[in-house]
Amino acid sequence: MASAEFELGAIDPGTTVTVKWRGKPIFIRNRTEDEIAEAKAVGMGELRDQETDEVRVQKDNWLVVLGICTHLGCVPISGAGDYNGWFCPCHGSHYDVSGRIRKGPAPLNLEVPPYKFTAEDKILIG
Ligand code: FES
Repeated sequence: MASAEFELGAIDPGTTVTVKWRGKPIFIRNRTEDEIAEAKAVGMGELRDQETDEVRVQKDNWLVVLGICTHLGCVPISGAGDYNGWFCPCHGSHYDVSGRIRKGPAPLNLEVPPYKFTAEDKILIG
């Protein structure tokens, strides 16, 4: 299956871009210092699908996740919802700035695809 390289340099802090990988949307968010702190401060007891922020990112500011709601597969809206991450309008799932499910019917966090940094501001997904 094809891998694809993406440049991150043009993504401003606090914004998300959506790219396509294997026909699926991928959200790449350049997280601000406040968002990073917020993501790391969440206690495990608050999470349905218990993952620390540390296991979901390779560099604190870059969050890379599949843009597919884990409920029934809609594409969530970036920068929306009660936790400032994503909101899925289909049935009301709220994800945080680590892409973790916080409220609504989705059972799992947004999936982190396989990727690696090939340069300071470049990733290879797949
Ligand atoms: Fe996202 Fe149902 S598909 S909440």
